[in-house]
Amino acid sequence: MAEFTQQQLLDHVNTVQIAPGNARVRAITERIVSDLFKTIDALDIQPDEFWKAMDWLARLGASGQIGLITAGLGFDRLLDIRADEADQQAGRTGGTPRAIEGPLFVAGAPTSKGEVRLDEGTPKGEVFVMEGQVLDLDGQPVPHAMIDVWHANEVGGYSHFFPGMQPYELRRRIEADANGHYRFRSYLPPGYAIPPNSPTSELFEALGRHGHRPAHIHFLVVAPGLRTLTTQVNIPGDTYIDDDFAFATRDGLIVTLERDVPAAGYASLGIEAPFVRSRFNFVMQKACNDSEALPLTRMERVTA
Ligand code: BEZ
Ligand code: FE
Repeated sequence: MAEFTQQQLLDHVNTVQIAPGNARVRAITERIVSDLFKTIDALDIQPDEFWKAMDWLARLGASGQIGLITAGLGFDRLLDIRADEADQQAGRTGGTPRAIEGPLFVAGAPTSKGEVRLDEGTPKGEVFVMEGQVLDLDGQPVPHAMIDVWHANEVGGYSHFFPGMQPYELRRRIEADANGHYRFRSYLPPGYAIPPNSPTSELFEALGRHGHRPAHIHFLVVAPGLRTLTTQVNIPGDTYIDDDFAFATRDGLIVTLERDVPAAGYASLGIEAPFVRSRFNFVMQKACNDSEALPLTRMERVTA
């Protein structure tokens, strides 16, 4: 067959094969290709528009910004909503809400026991301590839970992605103590904004959207037999708290700030003057299987 109608071509693309292949990949590809054929026809997409989009996709891949686009178009939050719905249907409730990991995690941060300072030298924002306990759903302490914590610097940049920062700056792992207690010192970060003059900003400008995230701090909490918790907390008072470009703000994850906390008891974190504190407990669910308790981030899970 040398000539096709649109429908004949689609049917052929979706059915041609010389081996069984992977049934799941075949089914997903069939749906996406069918939807795109329909979109191209319904919106009368012109060749120049199509190839411009392909050029953008190629530049997006080369820039390493795919994770910004998945978040900004709602896919990261969609996956969390679907996971919440599945949990609800399975009767798995309680615990700290999950929140998107984002694309800016870096594995292998230095580990400390019990407490740590994330920043170095002169604070570049208000001196901040976050502290609390890792607990299970029965309120029992989770001894020696491992907490990865990471956040942006004073201009919203993340180390390993933003020029001029030290390796693992504002990234640490804290092994909670035998009673699940942890604490860290840092400074209150500002929000994050997508890089200007980038494939991501091109799309957001064309969509008439901003690329701001409200101030937040990320966590990955891992303990044997418990479901790995990926979450983040928001700092109250940020302009974008209800207008996150990644749609990730959640009830229950906006911390309360206590100001002018006396320095007594915080000398080991180098604190000698009143500071800002937030208390926050991480509450972890039981893992239903070994996979749920793996100490892996989203990309480590699929590339390990
Ligand atoms: C962030 O957590 O900072 C982030 C999340 C999604 C896209 C870009 C940044
Ligand atoms: Fe972030």
